[in-house]
Amino acid sequence: MRLLLTEPAVRASGEALLAAHTGIELVALRPDGAVVLSDGTELDREDTGVEVAWATSDLYEEGGQLRAFFGLVRRLGTLRWFQSQAAGFDAPIFAELIRKGVLFTKSDAHSVPIAEFVLRAVLDHHQRPERWAAAQAARRWERHEFDEVSGSTWMVVGLGSIGAEVARRGRALGARVIGVRRRRAGDEPVDELVTPDRLVGVLGEVDVVVLCAPANASTKHLVDAAFLAAMRSGSLLVNIGRGSVVDEAALLEALDRGPLGGAVLDVFETEPLPEDSPLWAHPKVVITPHNSALATARYRRQLELFSENLGRYRRGEPLRGVVTEADLD
Ligand SMILES: NC(=O)c1ccc[n+]([C@@H]2O[C@H](COP(=O)([O-])OP(=O)(O)OC[C@H]3O[C@@H](n4cnc5c(N)ncnc54)[C@H](OP(=O)(O)O)[C@@H]3O)[C@@H](O)[C@H]2O)c1
Repeated sequence: MRLLLTEPAVRASGEALLAAHTGIELVALRPDGAVVLSDGTELDREDTGVEVAWATSDLYEEGGQLRAFFGLVRRLGTLRWFQSQAAGFDAPIFAELIRKGVLFTKSDAHSVPIAEFVLRAVLDHHQRPERWAAAQAARRWERHEFDEVSGSTWMVVGLGSIGAEVARRGRALGARVIGVRRRRAGDEPVDELVTPDRLVGVLGEVDVVVLCAPANASTKHLVDAAFLAAMRSGSLLVNIGRGSVVDEAALLEALDRGPLGGAVLDVFETEPLPEDSPLWAHPKVVITPHNSALATARYRRQLELFSENLGRYRRGEPLRGVVTEADLD
């Protein structure tokens, strides 16, 4: 069975994959565009015999072979399964593969670091460490009061892999967590579960809203003027899902004139965030450059996921993270 990886991925993970799985052949996409077997044999790009493709994180790094890799993947007539390194599947190429009948799996390797990022963001909003940093820089002994997270109410919008990790951590800190999703699975780690149509009605009870939902037609500008106006005074909005979920113009308006206490934004309607965006300099906004998932452990987690899924695929068992056409809307 032939597996397509980038050359850096073969270097980083090839040995571990070959040790764990017999009967596989690694096919590398080289930086010069050549498609080669481990012994250096160059394959005809139109006839590689590749059945499985694994898109690894290096594709998305500076100088990564994103275009070349997906250009090749598109033309693989023999491709049966595609493992993505991303949790989101809003990129058009993913929908194209799914609609073509390729088995598509997304990754949950980002869930833990993102949930930890959310904890830090919420704790910072409550404790205001920037005040201590400013006082320290000026050698001033200056104290301030802060609010506890314990006893607060969080709303986690989107209760998949990331949302569940966020919810568990919120509850561990003593928060009451209200989860939002369209279809109940029954094992959500929340105190209460509501459907999106009931969401605005409970916002008045919520201190922290964490957006963990994907970009799809139903989440486009879910956070609009009405949503923001219904939020509790001094409350916090954290968006680690997708920029399209928030109407940024309405958010700016709400930050200036509404009840919102602050926003921590890791994702934006346009990325990179344009230099002239007023969000950069807004005193109530904390901006991170789509950075919440970039923990070093992601390489290990991605390899573990792919290796586990490869075993399942070969044994004919259900894979982790399957995305179907029904999930696209
Ligand atoms: N900031 C980053 O670096 C970063 C990294 C990774 C992922 N992400 C984003 O985070 C998203 C979530 O990742 P994940 O791994 O947790 O995905 P997931 O496991 O697929 O979970 C997505 C959740 O969103 C819910 N959902 C979908 N539409 C909704 C709606 N209209 N209202 C409320 N909930 C809705 C789904 O449940 P129902 O279908 O039942 O509604 C599901 O529970 C990804 O799609 C991606 O966009 C961001």
